[in-house]
Amino acid sequence: MIRLNDSEFEAVVAYMKEHYGINLNKKKVLIECRMTKVLEAHGITSFGKYLELLRIDQSGTIAGELVEQLTTNYTYFMREPEHFTILRENVLPIVLNDNGVRDCNIWCAGCSTGEECYTLAMELAQFCDISPPAHKAKILATDISESVLEKARLGCYPLKTLASLPVFWQTSYCHTENKRQFSIDDRIKRDIRFVKHNLMERPPYPEKFDIIFCRNVMIYFDKDVRARLLSRLEAALNPGGYLFVGHAELLSQNETGLELAYPAVYRKPERNGGK
Ligand SMILES: C[S@@+](CC[C@H](N)C(=O)[O-])C[C@H]1O[C@@H](n2cnc3c(N)ncnc32)[C@H](O)[C@@H]1O
Repeated sequence: MIRLNDSEFEAVVAYMKEHYGINLNKKKVLIECRMTKVLEAHGITSFGKYLELLRIDQSGTIAGELVEQLTTNYTYFMREPEHFTILRENVLPIVLNDNGVRDCNIWCAGCSTGEECYTLAMELAQFCDISPPAHKAKILATDISESVLEKARLGCYPLKTLASLPVFWQTSYCHTENKRQFSIDDRIKRDIRFVKHNLMERPPYPEKFDIIFCRNVMIYFDKDVRARLLSRLEAALNPGGYLFVGHAELLSQNETGLELAYPAVYRKPERNGGK
């Protein structure tokens, strides 16, 4: 394994925090383990040489390699299921049926390989089958890693994970491809746009969102980075819109203008202060 010396470690940590917000302060061994094969593929034997490559590379390839190796993409269908109950029973009836003439915009930020936004989309599909909304919902799903986005766009998952979905979804929105894989139905995929986006930058579109899922992303950020991200997410919400964060990422009152609506779900006050 190629080892990091102290100054190289500091340089990698500083780069990842400055560009992607990710805190790798305590992850020296993880960086060494995950990056060694990348350095070897370049035929180089020290992180110092790799940092030099990173400095001179104009194409973004080297930075992309760091992102691919050093982000944590762990995710699964129906993660934190309480959120989907709240979505179904409390949030969708308000957002989809009461939002007047515009479309309902949803942003799944830090979507990883897609299980979260497909869970969301299947909730929406079922809700719309039962209670057709006047207008359409669109989901924007973003991540900084190109490889997870590719998997998400493909929408194929190991067959053993199918059982984690409600039976109605398994039969209505999924197709068993072979003994190992199932795929997500095109009707579900159609309303999701997968876009590469760094949460350290402005939201990728000028439109505002009625619902934002940004779960299990901020846990990798320091307090200052988290504060910047929160103010961006707050600004990206429509008045009355909802922000879902991970249950391990609860916000304190002094770091947001959003109101706690449900556990780990925050709501942007209406302009007139009404609910
Ligand atoms: C642990 S996964 C969470 C996936 C999903 N939201 C969930 O809760 O299951 C975190 C994701 O955030 C992405 N991420 C980390 N930093 C990011 C950044 N600066 N901009 C965009 N995505 C980022 C990672 O690539 C990773 O796919």
